[in-house]
Amino acid sequence: KTIDSLGDLSGKKVLVRSDLNVPLDGTTITDDGRVRASVPTIQKLLDAGAAVIVTAHLGRPKGEPDAKYSLAPAAARLAELLGSPVTLADDLVGPSAKAVTDALEAGQVAMLENVRFDARETSKVDEERQALAAELAAFADVFVSDGFGVVHRKQASVYDIAQVLPAAAGTLVEKEVVSLGKAVTDPARPYAVVLGGSKVSDKLGVIANLLTKADRLLIGGGMVFTFLAAKGYEVGSSLLEQDQIDTVKGYLKTAEENGVEIVLPTDIVAADKFAADADAVIVAADAIPADRMGLDIGPDSATLFASKLADAKTIVWNGPMGVFEMEAFANGTKAVAQAMIDSDGFSVVGGGDSAAAVRLLGFDEAGFGHISTGGGASLELLEGKVLPGLAVLED
Ligand code: 3PG
Repeated sequence: KTIDSLGDLSGKKVLVRSDLNVPLDGTTITDDGRVRASVPTIQKLLDAGAAVIVTAHLGRPKGEPDAKYSLAPAAARLAELLGSPVTLADDLVGPSAKAVTDALEAGQVAMLENVRFDARETSKVDEERQALAAELAAFADVFVSDGFGVVHRKQASVYDIAQVLPAAAGTLVEKEVVSLGKAVTDPARPYAVVLGGSKVSDKLGVIANLLTKADRLLIGGGMVFTFLAAKGYEVGSSLLEQDQIDTVKGYLKTAEENGVEIVLPTDIVAADKFAADADAVIVAADAIPADRMGLDIGPDSATLFASKLADAKTIVWNGPMGVFEMEAFANGTKAVAQAMIDSDGFSVVGGGDSAAAVRLLGFDEAGFGHISTGGGASLELLEGKVLPGLAVLED
């Protein structure tokens, strides 16, 4: 269900679940992508004459107030982007939240403090989550779920609340589901997926599912060394998940059986230490010196990966190719981002680190078909899972 299904919202109080879980350096937001992505829904509701109450989480506090995880920086940034005040309550469902939401008028925005300051938000006990959902629901007439990054969580402000109030997906959730859905259910082919990031063990379900769906799987990042080790190569002191080598051998076999092309790097940028000023050399992927660690895919691999993406009609990318935060090891990630921009196909950047990389490396977001705001949520969609926060919004 989308916002339009909620009828006339003029004069109504709308509780919006956003994902404002942004990276912070102290109280400074280092990537405001999620705050910016939350604006269109809030603006749409304001334009419709509603009063908007935003609820969101930041980080993983321990179910009690903790100033480190205050939503104050996100509220301030949201106010700047909207060009109007955002009143942040001091609590979630206490006296401050009640006073702030009672006083809220049409066209105004309030925000409740971090929803994870209440242990019931993430409780495994249904009744506890439902009790919190009922207290949140008391502030509003309808609920709009727009925090795509949390729709894989069965939590009070994501799942249970949608069973108490009339509920619909916001425009961000709608856009994410349509864009990722295109790749997940009916990709234009060739369908190429680029996977990176540090661990194979974080992506087991995704790889297993993609081996039945994708035409090409390009592997980089820290996880590639477990693939190289599975092929019997020396990986030096690179990241390696010894306990996943057999699983990866199984993937390589399944890929062959299913006709899925697995593309591995042919060369590696190998450093003597994990540091921006490390001594780095380019070595063949099957000959990483024992005392060196791979921190990026090499230049030949970048060219190879770009060529495998050039004619793809659908490209999904999740996980950086190297330690992109250090300039010396950012080239592989840059090459993949550029190849996606150059491609005529539909390109989707999975959230989390790859979305942050695109922004931090200065790429124009408009060059991509879609940049997801979800990390775990986009991976679970790619895995083919049913996400509770989406299922609860279905008709
Ligand atoms: C994310 O950062 O992926 C979302 O905000 C969800 O956060 P969580 O993994 O702490 O539930």
